[in-house]
Amino acid sequence: MIILKVGGDIFRGGLNQALANDLKKILEASKLVIVHGGGDEVTEIAEKLGKKQIFVTSPEGIRSRYTDEETVEIYTMVMAGRINKAIVRWLLSYGVLAVGLSGIDGALITASRKKKLIIVDERGRKRVIEGGYTGKIVKVNPQILRILIENGYVPVVSPIALGEENECLNVDSDRAAGQLAGALKADKIIFLTDVPGVRLGEKYLKRISLGCAREVLPKIGPGMDKKVIASIEALEIGVREAIIACGLVDEPITGALKGLNGTVISSEI
Ligand SMILES: Nc1ncnc2c1ncn2[C@@H]1O[C@H](COP(=O)(O)OP(=O)(O)OP(=O)(O)O)[C@@H](O)[C@H]1O
Ligand SMILES: [Mg+2]
Repeated sequence: MIILKVGGDIFRGGLNQALANDLKKILEASKLVIVHGGGDEVTEIAEKLGKKQIFVTSPEGIRSRYTDEETVEIYTMVMAGRINKAIVRWLLSYGVLAVGLSGIDGALITASRKKKLIIVDERGRKRVIEGGYTGKIVKVNPQILRILIENGYVPVVSPIALGEENECLNVDSDRAAGQLAGALKADKIIFLTDVPGVRLGEKYLKRISLGCAREVLPKIGPGMDKKVIASIEALEIGVREAIIACGLVDEPITGALKGLNGTVISSEI
């Protein structure tokens, strides 16, 4: 089984034929679950609706959306509505029997709401603010995915979790993919993004160990840092390999599996 996380930029510039063809080939030999991102599209639609989006930085340097009540509604509409359905329609048009769902459906992903957030302000001072509607994933119940996969469907999951008080919570799509990979005991997780992998200084890394991924993490910039964190978490819960690769090339998944596209993070070296 392979978990494929598809970044927002991969399907924004028109849904990509090379990716669809490769995906169909992979499906002949392997089971697949797709998780999508799309944060930039959420920001764009929110601002069109007159809701300015605010981003905050944690003391560890991780930047994330500040999700108040209105924002979580827009986030849910755009992720589970517009983006999820666009991907499902695209897959169907290539003959892939896709089903869209979010982490809410079948209580697939449960998370606990962060009641308080510690952030670092522009002057570098730490502040405690109201947590809003972001969640830390506490449990994945992949039964609904198993039912779909066993019956020939390809699930397409939006990064929304069910909170402990029944609320919708914004969860990071990379980490949600990592947790799903662990819960489904997937062999591999592939993150398709808009760059050729993890860059350290001038060069893109080819193959690194879990230990090395932990060491380089502080040197990785926003966006990519979450993929490295999600890869570390996935490997810690038993996934063998995490590959962070470019989704905009020919045969992106086949190339990633052969070690020709992207950075491989392996638990075995
Ligand atoms: N060290 C690094 N190596 C590679 N990319 C990096 C690095 N540091 C920062 N980045 C940035 O990370 C970006 C990828 O993350 P980003 O969150 O933008 O995309 P995504 O996760 O594919 O999309 P989405 O968030 O919509 O799911 C790259 O476009 C790049 O600009
Ligand atoms: Mg991202």
